[in-house]
Formats: sequence, structure tokens, C-alpha cells
Amino acid sequence: MHTEQLISTFVEYYEERGHRRITGSTLLPPDGDSVLFTTSGMHPLTPHLEGRPHPLGKRLVNVQRCLRTTDLDEVGDATHLTVFEMLGTWSLGDYEGPLSLDWGYGLLTEGLGIDPGLLHATAFAGDGRTGPDTASVELWQGLGVPIELTVDDNWWSNGPVGPCGPDSEIFLWSGEGPPRSTPTGDDRWVEVWNHVTMTHRRLGDGSLVPLPQRNVDTGLGLERLASLLQGRSSVFACDVFDPWRRHVPALWPLDEPSLRLVCDHLRSAVVVLGDGVRPANTGRGYVLRRLVRRLLTVLWRDDPSRSIGDLPEELVQHTLDHFRQDTRPGDVLRMLREEEHRFSRLLDRGRQVLARSRFQGPLTEDDFGYLHDTHGLPRDLITSLRRHED
Ligand code: SER
Repeated sequence: MHTEQLISTFVEYYEERGHRRITGSTLLPPDGDSVLFTTSGMHPLTPHLEGRPHPLGKRLVNVQRCLRTTDLDEVGDATHLTVFEMLGTWSLGDYEGPLSLDWGYGLLTEGLGIDPGLLHATAFAGDGRTGPDTASVELWQGLGVPIELTVDDNWWSNGPVGPCGPDSEIFLWSGEGPPRSTPTGDDRWVEVWNHVTMTHRRLGDGSLVPLPQRNVDTGLGLERLASLLQGRSSVFACDVFDPWRRHVPALWPLDEPSLRLVCDHLRSAVVVLGDGVRPANTGRGYVLRRLVRRLLTVLWRDDPSRSIGDLPEELVQHTLDHFRQDTRPGDVLRMLREEEHRFSRLLDRGRQVLARSRFQGPLTEDDFGYLHDTHGLPRDLITSLRRHED
């Protein structure tokens, strides 16, 4: 199933159950949110989870682009992307968690044809502050889906402060042969859908206060589910990456881990630029800068003559269109090239600095700290520059 078809099946299923579609918005969260980027579909809805009525009512559905840097070092494995899309549903003080799970199960099995025997659920076991999520446990038992209870993995928070609550996650078996073990025991169980019952708000001092209403917030990772439905071994092999897989290896021969990182970071950089962020040394702009520098570090490891400027404009256009962004692809490419030049100049400086006698022996942590803080040289780049000098 193509991702566009997956999106429409999802949205229609929830529209039939009284949900109104809201327009997914930018990667920049609303003012006052505690995170740099939208990391989950609920960010634009925070005020409504906290009680402000939403103009479209109490049942909502959307597709939201998200960016997560917490998983940056995992990018390149089978399931993590920096920018991804989340299909989301919300009950704003309307129905409760078990109905949400029941609908989710119905969509996955009847709507999308997934074998119920390949599903596993998890739920909140309870801790000193909040009791166990018995309602979710009973729902899963009634459906005959195996369930595992955890504490930390089944409490969802928006960030250090903000709405939070117990969640029940749905996992899909990705291994060959019959499912084994449990989600915490075997990573071939891939988490696809999280149903959070948002009951509390965490305050700056860490304490929890009940929200004025009980909400349900669910998020399903589009590329993850698409790759599993398409029988692909990783998110990088789902249809979203088809154009990237067509163009990038033709430009730059890369091994699979490098290809994944380059595609992920380039695609993310295009979307971040498309949402109006510009490279900088702090905040969002620094995240963008790091993405570009990480991918250039990988590209230049084998061949320093490679340039982002060679990227076909149609690939950038395809990505901007997919995310419904109206920035011109030529502008995006120009900004990427400017950032590439800045980095290239920095490297030249770096080579000169590294040639100093102080840096001829093994480098200490202080050296790495100094080279990073004073000259902006990341550790993997220093290592690779020194390797090339050997
Ligand atoms: N906010 C939850 C998550 O990000 C569900 O959407 O997993």
C-alpha cells in the first residue's frame, strides 16, 4: 500500500467515526511550547488538550510532520528517521482510551488487513503516583492481543513540562516466522502506534496536576507502518524514499548506512529550510547546521569534491511538494550550497589548526572540547581529518 493510500484510509476511517481533519502544520511548535521542533502530532493542539475548545470539535484527525533529534544516532537503523510524518487522532475530553484502542485495532486488522496474530500491545503498569491502566489491559485481553506491562516506556510526556499520561502502544512483528517474546524482549517487535490517555500536566517542579479534561492522543508513524505493509526491511525502503534511492546513489556511490544517513539528513534539511529555518549557531538553526555538516562529513569522507549543489532540483521539489511547502527548490539548493561553502571554509581552517604541533599526538577530551567550541569542529570530522593526514 502506497503511503498516500495509507493516509487516506486512515483519515477516512476516522472521519466515519466523527473526526474532523485538521491541517497538519509546520515543524515549528506554537509559542510557549517547551521543545525546539514539533516532535509529535499533539504539539499544535496543546492549548486544546488543556481545555480550550477547538473550533472543529472534540474529535480530530491529522497528518503532522515531526522532527526528532533524540534519535539522531539511531538514524540509519530500520525504523528511525529525523523528519517523519505522524498520523494522529484526538479525543478532546470526549471518548476514552479503550474505544481508541478498539478503533485502532479495527483499522489495522480489517482496514489494513494486518494479521491480528502479528500484534502485541503494551500498557502502563502503574507507579507510586498513578495506578495501572487496567482499562487498556481489559480491552486487549478481550481482543485476544498479548499485552506487556511496563512503567517508564508507557508514560508519555511532551517534554520536561506539559501534558502527559499513561499510554498503550501497539507493536507489529517484523521478523521472519511466528512472533516471539515481547516488545521489550525482542526488537523485531516494531512500535507503530501510540495511544496516550492524557490525564495530567507536568509542572516545572516535576509535580503532576490533573488536566481539566481527559483526552486521548494517538500517533502512528507513517513511514514505519508503510514499510511494514510494503514488506520492506527498513523505512528507507518504503515508497517515500523511492526518488531518493533513484537519484542519490547515481550521484554518489555510498554504502548502505551512509546512503541512509545522507538521504535522511538531506531530506530533513530540505523540510526544515522549507519551514523557514535558516542555519545558525543556536536553536533550530543549529539543528539544521548539524544535519548538513553530518551529511557532508559522510559525503566527503570518500571524495571531498562531492557537492550538494549536484542534487537534482526535481528531488528537492518532490520533497517540498510532499510536505506542501511553497519555498522555491532553487532557493533551498542555494541555501544548502551556501552552508556547504561555510563548512568547507571551516574545514580548511580546521586543517590548519590541526597541523599545529599541539595536536600532533593523541587528542585529549579537552582538545576535542577546544576544537569544537573554538573552531566548530565536530569530533567525527576531526577524527576523519586526522585519518586522512596519516
Ligand atoms: N504524543 C504521542 C507520541 O508522540 C502520541 O501521538 O507518541
